[in-house]
Amino acid sequence: MKILFIGTGHMGSALISGIKSNNNFKEQIFVFNRTYEKSLDVSKKYNVIPVKKLEHLNYDIVVLGIRPADFEQLAVDLKKFTLEKQTFVTMINALSIKQASDIFGNNKLNIVRIMPNMNAAIQQSVTAYSSNKINSEVTKFVIEMFSNCGTVEEIPEDKFPAFTALAGCSPSYIFTFLNGFYKYALKNGFSKDQAYRIMKNTIIGSTEYSTNSDNSFDELINSICVPNGSTIEGQKVLETNNFQDIIIKALEAAKQKS
Ligand SMILES: NC(=O)c1ccc[n+]([C@@H]2O[C@H](COP(=O)([O-])OP(=O)(O)OC[C@H]3O[C@@H](n4cnc5c(N)ncnc54)[C@H](OP(=O)(O)O)[C@@H]3O)[C@@H](O)[C@H]2O)c1
Repeated sequence: MKILFIGTGHMGSALISGIKSNNNFKEQIFVFNRTYEKSLDVSKKYNVIPVKKLEHLNYDIVVLGIRPADFEQLAVDLKKFTLEKQTFVTMINALSIKQASDIFGNNKLNIVRIMPNMNAAIQQSVTAYSSNKINSEVTKFVIEMFSNCGTVEEIPEDKFPAFTALAGCSPSYIFTFLNGFYKYALKNGFSKDQAYRIMKNTIIGSTEYSTNSDNSFDELINSICVPNGSTIEGQKVLETNNFQDIIIKALEAAKQKS
């Protein structure tokens, strides 16, 4: 398979890094970016092949890692080539398979829509996918290729907006939450290393514990917030400030734009 990544920004390069972390992945990856220097950097870092100018589109898979605002112009440029042989993979937020086909002016294209997240760079993305040719061999290959970047989830296309909020955008909200922990740890005299270790192990432990427990989140909270204890004092602050509602509102705001 010959694979071309168009757009090697944050997400494109994180996915390439995830895929190339599998030493058994032997397919050829080419990279094309508007600013050529960026594709050169990525090519050196991940041992992929830079493309300076798009003179043909003779690739089996074309991965679109550009921003939504850049898609229409790119589609104009790509329409100069014969398009039906490739499988297009789009990670472009809020762009449905139908909209992408309409913009390409061709409803016969094999399009796989994905929504990864930045944790692809450490092979821990949760990547959703949907395709108009889900059973094709190339689509299966695409899904396997992205499983090198973490876990993959097939979802119906109408769930992309909520999934985008829950997994594509949420790392940013989780970093915000972690930043609060981190600043508090530093303020209380912990070193950076210790602060990161405390945060990481507490958060991974709590996630694992809740995932493996038969108890609801409320029951788990009650088991820690014993009356007159210290946890309940902090919990009251979270509840008075509607912490859960704020999270739900943030996710909903992201979903509306997705
Ligand atoms: N960042 C995330 O966490 C995340 C998560 C999930 C999905 N996504 C989706 O992933 C896509 C890329 O996001 P990003 O964060 O990686 O953006 P980004 O860092 O801005 O990268 C976009 C890249 O596309 C290049 N580009 C734009 N037009 C091009 C063209 N016509 N031909 C070739 N290259 C072109 C840009 O080149 P220049 O260097 O010239 O600007 C830039 O390097 C977006 O559609 C976004 O919705 C992002």
